[in-house]
Amino acid sequence: MSNTTNDTFHITGLGGKRVLKGEVKVNGAKNAALKAQATAVLFGTPLTLANMPDIADVQKLDELLEAMGMEITKEGKRKRTYNARHFSESVFPAHIAKHIRASVVATGPVLARTGKVVFPHPGGCVIGARPIDFFLNGYKKMGAVVREGKSAYTIIAPRGGLRGAEIFFPKVSVTGTETFMMTATLAHGTTVLKNAAMEPEIVSLGNFLKESGADISGLGTPTITIKGRGGKLLRARSAYTIPGDRIEAGSFCILVALAGRDVTVSGFNSEELDALLFMLEDMGMNIEKEKRSVRLTAGTKTALKSASFTTHEYPGFPTDLQAPMVTLLTQSEGETTVFETIFEGRLRYTDELKFMGADITLMDPHRALVRGPKALKGRTLESPDLRAGLAYVLAAIVAEGKSTIHAVSNIDRGYERVEERLVSLGVDIERVHQD
Ligand code: EPZ
Repeated sequence: MSNTTNDTFHITGLGGKRVLKGEVKVNGAKNAALKAQATAVLFGTPLTLANMPDIADVQKLDELLEAMGMEITKEGKRKRTYNARHFSESVFPAHIAKHIRASVVATGPVLARTGKVVFPHPGGCVIGARPIDFFLNGYKKMGAVVREGKSAYTIIAPRGGLRGAEIFFPKVSVTGTETFMMTATLAHGTTVLKNAAMEPEIVSLGNFLKESGADISGLGTPTITIKGRGGKLLRARSAYTIPGDRIEAGSFCILVALAGRDVTVSGFNSEELDALLFMLEDMGMNIEKEKRSVRLTAGTKTALKSASFTTHEYPGFPTDLQAPMVTLLTQSEGETTVFETIFEGRLRYTDELKFMGADITLMDPHRALVRGPKALKGRTLESPDLRAGLAYVLAAIVAEGKSTIHAVSNIDRGYERVEERLVSLGVDIERVHQD
């Protein structure tokens, strides 16, 4: 993502000491907010979104929607109302869409609303090729014509609107499931999504769409059925509150496991983080769970026991916490295997952890062997993507000496001014603006 203002983090490491204390509150989930913004295209009434995270990806998607005719009024930093009454544009402004892969989620709603959508090939990224074949095949199944141009796709809905279809996802796809769940609400006839994703954010969004007039069943199961409204737009009867970010919460929980004495992480549904929390307990952390918060404590001398893990669609271990967890394993006792099953490029960041002194062997693009504990040394690093960038921040915090992390804009894509909450826990981190 090209940025003019590429800030830098300067961090002074704790050298393995366990000192962090206090409480952090997580923000609205990035991966729920982006889809809620996209779904606004399907509404015939203004849609208010609350608890929005103030992050770059959300701002970028707002820019894209506004350029296409969406009227957005902000009520403070975290609440905004989307009014699609004049939404008629089908062409994604490429200069904006190129920078936000998640804009692919809006292709379905725009196609359903306007009968056509034109959008650039969404870029892949460091974690993988990020193909969109599931989307193109799904639109064809719903009766649309898909044309692949040199720089963009043009998709035309059938006369009279999209038709319900049976869609099987060859791999469980989070945005694929969300996009077709939303899009099918306006189609003619019934759509059945098979091998669908079960992420909590999908259940939350689906329930809100049902409150807004959609007929959806099977949320949270591998088969979701949507009875289409034949082109009749959805009607918001209430605001939609973005659920707390379980990935941001998990990232902070891993920080506490690395260098925390007594920290409470709040603002999310703790039962949505079972895969991580049970693993941290097995590794030796004490965790008190409340519905919307967890309190993690550890004795000063606790060197955690290592644990192997495999990333897996919800409710398995989230791929978005894989990099922060590997950082923790470099400081834990034992030899473990990490198996990244979702993305083919999501272990590349480990080179930099090795540069800091970690003992990691990449066995193939999907599997790494981690031996710990191995002390880390502060270094100058560059954040490759938001989750690996956060993993570097955690590594710098636990390392001996000073670290500089460049391309903080990648971290800002998904974590709202993370340094402010880190400072509140006792981390010595400073953001330096570079114009
Ligand atoms: C969503 O990405 C999240 N992004 C990702 O979070 C997250 O890592 C991922 O789900 C898995 O949980 C958003 O929600 C905006 P997929 P998504 O479709 O939906 C393959 C972050 O850091 N696939 O579930 O794009 C794909 O290559 C980001 O917040 C196809 O082959 O991921 C992958 O191997 C990173 N063809 C697998 O499916 C397609 O058309 C699962 O990907 C689509 C996907």
